[in-house]
Amino acid sequence: MKNIIVDVKNMSVRFGDFVAVRNVSFDVASGEIFGFLGANGAGKTTTIRVLCGLLPASSGTVIVDNVRFVPGRENQIKKKVGYMSQRFTLYDDLSVRENFDFVAALHQLDEDIYLLRRQKLMDFIGFDSDLRTLVKNLPSGIKQQVALCAALLHDPKIIFLDEPTAGVSPRARYRFWQLIQELARDGKTVFVTTHYMDEAENCHRIALMRAGEIVAIDSPYELKRKTFGDTMFRLRPKVLNPMWPIPDVVDVWQPYGMTYHLKFRDGVDVARQLRRLRRDWDIVQITPSLEDVFVRLVEGKNR
Ligand SMILES: Nc1ncnc2c1ncn2[C@@H]1O[C@H](COP(=O)(O)OP(=O)(O)O)[C@@H](O)[C@H]1O
Ligand SMILES: [Mg+2]
Repeated sequence: MKNIIVDVKNMSVRFGDFVAVRNVSFDVASGEIFGFLGANGAGKTTTIRVLCGLLPASSGTVIVDNVRFVPGRENQIKKKVGYMSQRFTLYDDLSVRENFDFVAALHQLDEDIYLLRRQKLMDFIGFDSDLRTLVKNLPSGIKQQVALCAALLHDPKIIFLDEPTAGVSPRARYRFWQLIQELARDGKTVFVTTHYMDEAENCHRIALMRAGEIVAIDSPYELKRKTFGDTMFRLRPKVLNPMWPIPDVVDVWQPYGMTYHLKFRDGVDVARQLRRLRRDWDIVQITPSLEDVFVRLVEGKNR
């Protein structure tokens, strides 16, 4: 039986008349890497802020790490969760050590526990600069990793990462995801939002959000399978001006660099269409990408 660490039922968040999160329900298992994917304004940050006790839900029930949210008692949860926010992470003008000191004081950690954990976390990310280095002088990738450590200093079972890799290099993103996977292997639960589809592939499960609602929630594999079956093709032109597929038979026609992803409508004689297209295109059947799923379920609509 899976151990549920986040349990959300019929949660809504309203700002005045505006509904930022509308009646969402989901759970997250202990040790899971759970991704939140959605366009800007979909309600990802708002959801995270509720789960971290920074914002009360307008309705619904929320339980995180056995704490049931009661209005006015959100504070209890702050001690149990780690949170790396979208913008504010570390104090730029303080050193790495001063930042950690500050977080340790905030959580009222004993000195010896604090120093031990700090060392462990520095080893975890392989930090080899001086702890007196000012945060603003760190490369952005390292800064991100230090911010992750700061969020882990009080040893929460679950950590919320809101677009943790925005604005860092692909190499640093890769490294950051290695760390996330290591945390999950150690039993931590990681709740992460991202804009990057390749990153989302690393999640055990993903919730796709659109306009405050969760439109799909599943593993990357199941999301692709359920959305597209095994009927997607990649086409690469063989000639300069290739003959296009007939619009009437096309469900998805999406450019990917020099190639296109194609899915026919249901009921189309696929073999016959492919025969026609093969004169001008190299065609292979492919597993759809998460990007395909995202475009289908999330984009093309408002918000
Ligand atoms: N404090 C607030 N007051 C009013 N509207 C807000 C507030 N916070 C967020 N919103 C609105 O709620 C919607 C969802 O925002 P957010 O959760 O930040 O989306 P995401 O993180 O998915 O980009 C947006 O339309 C945003 O403008
Ligand atoms: Mg956000």
